[in-house]
Amino acid sequence: MSVTVRAAAKINLHLGVGAPRDDGFHPLCTVYQAISLYDDVTATADDVLGVRTTAASPRVEVVGVPDGPDHLAHRAAVALGRHHGRDLTAALTVDKAIPVAGGLAGGSADAAAALVALDRLHDLRTTDDDLLRLAADLGSDVPFSLLGGTALGTGRGELVEPVADTGPWWWVVVPATAGLATPGVYAHLDRLRPDADPTPTPADAVLAALTTGEPAALARALHNDLEAAAVDLRPELGALLDRGVAEGALRGLVSGSGPTVLFLAESAEHARAVAGALEGALVAHGPVAGAHVVVDRA
Ligand code: C5P
Repeated sequence: MSVTVRAAAKINLHLGVGAPRDDGFHPLCTVYQAISLYDDVTATADDVLGVRTTAASPRVEVVGVPDGPDHLAHRAAVALGRHHGRDLTAALTVDKAIPVAGGLAGGSADAAAALVALDRLHDLRTTDDDLLRLAADLGSDVPFSLLGGTALGTGRGELVEPVADTGPWWWVVVPATAGLATPGVYAHLDRLRPDADPTPTPADAVLAALTTGEPAALARALHNDLEAAAVDLRPELGALLDRGVAEGALRGLVSGSGPTVLFLAESAEHARAVAGALEGALVAHGPVAGAHVVVDRA
């Protein structure tokens, strides 16, 4: 018996960050979009709980992904089991195509996929509201990984609601692995702007641009408060942003807390041309679906 669930990488088209709250998290006003880079999580019936990660293609390196209890998919299994008052067991295999890189929420995708796969494998019939609550406890962007599409994220990012989007939009993704941990980027932003407003910058410009279907309009509206902090910590990201635009991209943007960088293109063809000029670049489109069952042998 096994169930396979597919979950997508996420990017932030708008990431407004307010001054830190009492609990240390930052209030966010963000627009998430799920893009066409996917991890597949297979849950196979077993009498112990285990997680292992495999590379979906030779392009993906899975170094640095923890196996066992530290993997977010493992923590998802424990949390779902606790919610139902039982120990959930399964062999979880994460077949990874989302680059193991900061800013694409690959770990969050795996956690969301594990929740859905285990729910189906064990026929738990967890309600959507409960799945979203469990997801929020696992990480700020895990609820969005369940939802997918394009969504407004508020709170610390865990409160999500779908928004209108006339895409597809075509993205060039330049993954980067080393050097930027999310908490460090938020902390650096706080140092750069000690008098920050508690209210994050609203997402109105991106929300309006998403309804136009015009890449040039979306390019003008893209916004990421964390970008200044990420570029200050890793100046080579600034050079990469300039290079992508010099190669013809409409606009470059650091993805989330980085260090992965995104470029918006006019079309699939244009994205392939820009990607061809940037080493290690991938082409993806969004929006795409949230975590969903692709193989059901439960
Ligand atoms: O929620 P998640 O586990 O993904 O957050 C990782 C880290 O990112 C947090 O420990 C915190 O340092 C930072 N963070 C934040 N404000 C948010 C989301 C994340 O400061 N809204």
